[in-house]
Amino acid sequence: MGEQLKFPKPIHVTKPKLPKFEEYTDKIKDIWENNWLTNDGPLHEEFKTNLKDYLGASEVELFTNGHLALELALKTLEVKGEIITTPFTFASTIHAIKNTGFRTVFCDIESNTFNIDVKQIEQLITEKTRAIVAVHVFGNPCDVVELDRISRDYGIPLIYDAAHAFGVKVDGNYIGEYGDVSMFSMHATKVFHSIEGGVLCYKRKDLTKLLKALKNFGITSSETVDYIGINAKMNEFQAAMGLVNLKEIDQDILKRKEVYHLYEKHLSEIPGINLVRINRNVQHNYSYFPILLENLNMRDYLNEVLKEYNLFTRKYFYPLCNDFGCYSFNSNETPVAVYVSDRILALPMYSELTSDEVKQICTIIKIVLEDYHVQDNNRMTNQVGELSNEPV
Ligand SMILES: Cc1ncc(COP(=O)(O)O)c(C=O)c1O
Repeated sequence: MGEQLKFPKPIHVTKPKLPKFEEYTDKIKDIWENNWLTNDGPLHEEFKTNLKDYLGASEVELFTNGHLALELALKTLEVKGEIITTPFTFASTIHAIKNTGFRTVFCDIESNTFNIDVKQIEQLITEKTRAIVAVHVFGNPCDVVELDRISRDYGIPLIYDAAHAFGVKVDGNYIGEYGDVSMFSMHATKVFHSIEGGVLCYKRKDLTKLLKALKNFGITSSETVDYIGINAKMNEFQAAMGLVNLKEIDQDILKRKEVYHLYEKHLSEIPGINLVRINRNVQHNYSYFPILLENLNMRDYLNEVLKEYNLFTRKYFYPLCNDFGCYSFNSNETPVAVYVSDRILALPMYSELTSDEVKQICTIIKIVLEDYHVQDNNRMTNQVGELSNEPV
């Protein structure tokens, strides 16, 4: 049974979307014609205009990747101090906070959305709080209305790590229009990509000059360097990939939507699996398909055994950022995040996944979990047996 179901080629958790070869090569011909490879080239500018339109943003700036975009967004904050964020995120969020000289204050997450728990933020605000960095985990929007309220009431900037949320809308509004700044990642494995890439959407026009300088060594004119900047510029090859991919994005999201609903249909009947529900007011991008298992053993067992079927899932996000060896935080303070992180598993999700593949993945998961339950029952029976043999 197992051998029959094994995929002939590995199915990975994500698969970068590549455009038609000729479309890309057609686009990069411009680079040879212009002899312009980086530093705000014509493709960069065209990509920026198209992205601004697609993301419905007031202002946008492009960067070499999402991480550096986030670091530079944080660098625009004038005074150092504390930043409130979540441990249930990718390493990048916390590293960006640390690398820009802020202290991280962790807030726990909501058990249903896995996003920062807005009910717990206010008790963490002190006179040293300089920003809130909230993450739209798996593309599910945070409670943007309540976060806006907190940011306004306390006068604290609100920065979104929207790495997962490209193309998402809430109540018909573009997600990047909430908060002060939003960072979208355009890494190869994301819903939309420019090989590597990051884009900041923001409202304050006066940030443009600063961001442009910061991503180009702090240079403000041919003879002035006003900031200690870095090199975070997007090059023309990245912009060309982004331009070509942007034409396909709506179609890709629709294909992902089909995959998502097929998973929902086949997995909702399997005991031991909890699915994440999408709110009705959200236009989603279906970037990930996370499931929650009953406990850590079950999750780890499934993750391991699926490999025998050439099926590669990902414990995403595990470990939590407040358990990383490079920091000395304590995850005891965020028990919901610990609970979720111990049970989460991201299943393969990309637009080219066929319905037959999704059905096969679900069948395999069902079989593996049935085996797990049998083994678990045997373990329990043996334990009871051992206990009853113990002398009283
Ligand atoms: C939540 C989150 N933040 C930040 C990043 C960093 O983005 P990039 O890979 O484009 O640097 C990622 C990337 O995977 C991410 O998942």
